[in-house]
Amino acid sequence: MTGARRRPLVSGNWKMHHDHLAAIRTMADLGLRLDAEDAARVDVSVHPPFTDLRSAQTVMEDRSVPVFLGAQHCHHRDEGAFTGEIAPPMLARLGVSYVIVGHSERRQHFGQSDEDVARTLRAVQRHGMTPIICVGETGEEREQGATEERLTAQVTASLGSAGGLTASAIVVAYEPIWAIGTGKTATAADAQQACAHIRAVAAGCIGQEAADQMRVQYGGSVKPESTSELLACPDVDGVLVGGASLDAASFADIVHAAASGAPRR
Ligand code: PGA
Repeated sequence: MTGARRRPLVSGNWKMHHDHLAAIRTMADLGLRLDAEDAARVDVSVHPPFTDLRSAQTVMEDRSVPVFLGAQHCHHRDEGAFTGEIAPPMLARLGVSYVIVGHSERRQHFGQSDEDVARTLRAVQRHGMTPIICVGETGEEREQGATEERLTAQVTASLGSAGGLTASAIVVAYEPIWAIGTGKTATAADAQQACAHIRAVAAGCIGQEAADQMRVQYGGSVKPESTSELLACPDVDGVLVGGASLDAASFADIVHAAASGAPRR
């Protein structure tokens, strides 16, 4: 990419952890650990379970915690008879800025398809929020040397010909499935190669300029110790963190590691 480095985005995905009281404590704790210096260098999003969103948002606002509110999933319709689902405008009304779309756990355990991912990311954008689209290969695909093939298929299916998309408001997270929750992090070289590939495929869908601006995160067993090396890669623009985001101290350490390598803005 030419010109200025993309602004890093550090995202914490709490998955099905922390009830709303734990969310209040964790968000308040984060507020004590993150400061204006961090906010000047990196964007941070926190993605609690739906039942925590209102509580988390209240603490964020009350204590000026420098993070964006995120959600982990949503339906693609604005309303309707979809028992148990949450609609994008409901999230927008709560001040949600980023929504994870197509996390491998949604694809694997709840049958979310590429088509649904494509519809949902457009619905998220229609309501002024930014989708974080997750893609990544299984361990088996990796062993067969099919990583790039898998990423090409997922990125192409999500972005398509970019119809109905605001190209400037897309984040893609490269999350190799074998690295999620396993303690095995991809090497920085592997993460770089995959993220560069994702950007190249995206350029074919949304154009080179938009692909150059698009942030690509790495996710999968990210820890404070691995963050600097990952973020030093030219095509890795942030991290999507699961387990290590549950504890405010370790998540703040990840944010600080990301901020220390990023120019102030
Ligand atoms: P992990 O999860 O950091 O616990 O591996 C990452 C994710 O699934 O987003």
